[in-house]
Amino acid sequence: MRRLLAWLDDRSGLITWLRHALEHPVPPRTGWWYVFGSATFIAFVLQVVTGIALATAYVPSSGQAYDSLRFITEQALLGRFLRGMHYFGASAMVLLIGIHVSRTYWMAAYKFPRELSWFSGAVLLLLTLALAFTGQLLRWDQNAVWSVIVGAAQAGRMPVVGGELARFLLAGDTIGGATLSRFFAFHVFFIPALVFGLVGLHLMLVLRHGISERPRAGKPVDPATYRQEYQEMLQREGVPFWPDAAWRDVVFGAATVAAVVLLAILVGPPALGSPPDPSILEAYPRPDWYLLWYFAVLAMAPEHLESIIIILGPLLFGAFLLLVPFFNRGERSVRRRPWAALLVVFIWTTIAAFWYAGERAEWSPDFSAKPLPASALGNATPEDTEGARLFHSKGGPDLTLVGGRMTQDQIVARITNGSANMPAYTRILRPDEVQTLAKFLAGRR
Ligand code: HEM
Repeated sequence: MRRLLAWLDDRSGLITWLRHALEHPVPPRTGWWYVFGSATFIAFVLQVVTGIALATAYVPSSGQAYDSLRFITEQALLGRFLRGMHYFGASAMVLLIGIHVSRTYWMAAYKFPRELSWFSGAVLLLLTLALAFTGQLLRWDQNAVWSVIVGAAQAGRMPVVGGELARFLLAGDTIGGATLSRFFAFHVFFIPALVFGLVGLHLMLVLRHGISERPRAGKPVDPATYRQEYQEMLQREGVPFWPDAAWRDVVFGAATVAAVVLLAILVGPPALGSPPDPSILEAYPRPDWYLLWYFAVLAMAPEHLESIIIILGPLLFGAFLLLVPFFNRGERSVRRRPWAALLVVFIWTTIAAFWYAGERAEWSPDFSAKPLPASALGNATPEDTEGARLFHSKGGPDLTLVGGRMTQDQIVARITNGSANMPAYTRILRPDEVQTLAKFLAGRR
């Protein structure tokens, strides 16, 4: 065995390289905040392994995708477990990458000479979110399909490129078999290939520059002297990566895998909704939890601000990711960069708050809501009461005063034909129901 390894090393240099990577000195006292990058990597590897296994039974055609997933979940050997692993693995990857970005920003690890580590990471963040989004459509149930339609509708609002972008996402003007093929190709080939390449670059950069030392207030980064000081510090007090620092990566990585396995067994994969039917307008898309907060933002935004938020939000976030490493010198300690701490806390709190609002689904109809109280209806006729019930069950918006704005005929036309931000209800309401509803609404002044 030893001779075989010596031969391998002589011809490839791999073992010497690995030994160097494992034993290279790293700054002392880095601590637990540095484990999230390696844990993100482990989550990605889990996704690749479970994804390949799922792909052996998944049929990426619009006629069969849903059934093949039901087969995987209900009949295939270990299928339910694998779907659970893939779902919770994705959740872990999104969560861990979020913490990793926050940690590197919080400790200003993007400053000289690690600007490229940040850039490559920023692209990895976008790719990870793209993997999460494209994966959801592959479930090809009502929820998944509608989430993508909403996503494409949002993309469509971008100025200049919006229409093209939406058509590109859907692989046509509407969702269909071609959309599924496109998302499948992106989810299993294109994006993972990019992630592989970029993770390679990212880790190579970590080895090249060494991991950043814990920031100290009053010790700013000066590109003219940083490298020399870093090397001197490593010689003085550096510790070998393995085992002194890497044991934490191993422990946290193992805990991550164990958590994903446990959740896959105990909770299982997300239930499949009903098969997709784009003609059903009552679908209230609920994306997976890590995208839910963004849907809540969109759904709760006042109508006149919606487009601004859709365009400005991602634009500002993208500009932030790109611009951060240009501030590549100066203090790293968060005590001297209080705005950085505020920003991280603000972003996490906003996401948590909108996620909570989305979870409670205030913005989509709550079917278990109690019927409107009699006091809301005043001297209602039985027909009025029926109109109110219908309106309530179809999840109408706040139209308390609509009767003052529109006549009954105008309301009938609006309900049947829809408008810019409202679907046409012709197919899900009978004509007599439309009349009953319109009469009820015309009375709301
Ligand atoms: C698939 C995604 C990613 C993987 C697998 C990954 C992996 C890693 C690993 C293993 C390290 C070593 C130290 C540590 O764990 O903290 C690291 C460092 C770093 N990463 Fe990532 N990363 C990813 C995404 C990102 C993102 C999204 C950003 C920022 C936008 C980022 C920025 C950085 C920076 C600046 C460092 C240097 C940290 C230091 O020297 O203290 N990474 N990454």
